[in-house]
Amino acid sequence: MKKTILIVGGSHGIGNAIALEQLSAHHVLSFSRTSAGITDPNFTEHLMDIRNADLPTLENLDSIIYCPGSIQLKPISSLKEEALREDFEINVIGAYRIIKNYYRILKRSKANPSIVMFSTVAVAQGMPFHTSVAAAKGAVEGMARSLAAELAPMIRVNAIAPTITDTPLASGLLRNDAMRDKMKERHPLKRILDVDEVASMASYLISDQARSITGQVIGIDAGMSIIRN
Ligand SMILES: NC(=O)c1ccc[n+]([C@@H]2O[C@H](COP(=O)([O-])OP(=O)(O)OC[C@H]3O[C@@H](n4cnc5c(N)ncnc54)[C@H](OP(=O)(O)O)[C@@H]3O)[C@@H](O)[C@H]2O)c1
Repeated sequence: MKKTILIVGGSHGIGNAIALEQLSAHHVLSFSRTSAGITDPNFTEHLMDIRNADLPTLENLDSIIYCPGSIQLKPISSLKEEALREDFEINVIGAYRIIKNYYRILKRSKANPSIVMFSTVAVAQGMPFHTSVAAAKGAVEGMARSLAAELAPMIRVNAIAPTITDTPLASGLLRNDAMRDKMKERHPLKRILDVDEVASMASYLISDQARSITGQVIGIDAGMSIIRN
């Protein structure tokens, strides 16, 4: 069955990789501030800032994947309240706005509707300077579990918690080979993630194969959250 998949953040990074994976079989609708530059009859985009945009009316929807996020790493000594608010705005309130606006349409779907959100490995594993993003993503995990309970059995809700992934968001932490090698070394599997491995998990979670999976936070973290070696 051809589905309609809303990707908030299909212009680049993980969301863009999901869009490119899904286009061959499904209709992808993307919300972002900049264009993905994809010309495909199965791709439609609305340019907007989800923090303050009026959201368009949609006729039908089978999946929502919410990608916007942040990496503001600061010690508590210089972490401003404003930064914490910004992180909650983009990670938590943005996801809330989208889900609140569209869950009723999703409920009408006959194609195993589901929602995927993004957390981070820095929730399960305490890391210095991650207070703001870990707090916001911890809220995302709580929201995913709570909504999974509330919206069952109609809509499945899951989150993915990746470690550092090679995207524009993480570019400041992966500026050169030395930084990349240091990042890899911190992980038991000695690697950082490519967008396609995270995109594949999102594609799986919205697929019929995942029809019994809800309320989960799936770690893709090269062993970082669980293993010590
Ligand atoms: N990359 C990592 O290392 C990493 C690690 C752990 C968790 N994560 C999480 O994984 C998710 C995806 O990360 P990513 O690295 O793919 O991020 P990314 O490269 O920054 O991409 C985010 C997407 O969201 C869109 N977006 C951001 N702010 C927006 C806004 N205000 N309004 C509308 N669209 C907006 C961006 O499009 P525009 O810029 O065109 O608006 C882009 O398409 C995030 O939630 C992130 O926190 C990432």
